[in-house]
Amino acid sequence: MKQKNAIYPGSFDPITKGHMDIIKRSAKMFDKLYVAVLTNSSKSCCFTIEERMEMMRKCTSDMQNVEVCTFSGLLAEYAKKIDVVTSIRGLRAVTDFEYEFQMALTNKKINKELETIFLTTNSKYMYLSSSIVKEIARNGGDISDFVPSVVLDDIKNRLQRKD
Ligand code: PNS
Repeated sequence: MKQKNAIYPGSFDPITKGHMDIIKRSAKMFDKLYVAVLTNSSKSCCFTIEERMEMMRKCTSDMQNVEVCTFSGLLAEYAKKIDVVTSIRGLRAVTDFEYEFQMALTNKKINKELETIFLTTNSKYMYLSSSIVKEIARNGGDISDFVPSVVLDDIKNRLQRKD
């Protein structure tokens, strides 16, 4: 089966250079890439959906085949609705594997057409996570190596704000 479209779902709280690396590589592999900015019910997000979508739009504004979206409900059902059969996830290390494997199998149980493709993270970003970015920024550290420059100030201003 030819796969022309794919979806890359995540919390992106906030987006990192590791996420951008996965987006750029996926956008080369597919005609169209939906980047779905979502709420992970097992995490409490620091940035609102609107803030995370706005940052994602800024970071992907020069990528013609990338569309930023969001939805409520299940990824497996949304994929059916938009006629996508491929979900992309990045894998950093073996510690990611159990959670990712469980999620991929659950999604496939709900929607048997939906395949999950894992892209190995660029080794430069193996250690990087949104949580680390938040921790460094909240403590006044320099996050410029970790997040796309176009959203650096948005992230710094938001995380150093005391509310
Ligand atoms: O970046 P994250 O937090 O690891 O992304 C997790 C996310 C948002 C992709 C996952 O929680 C998700 O797909 N949520 C949508 C609801 C859903 O389909 N849940 C069942 C997944 S098994």
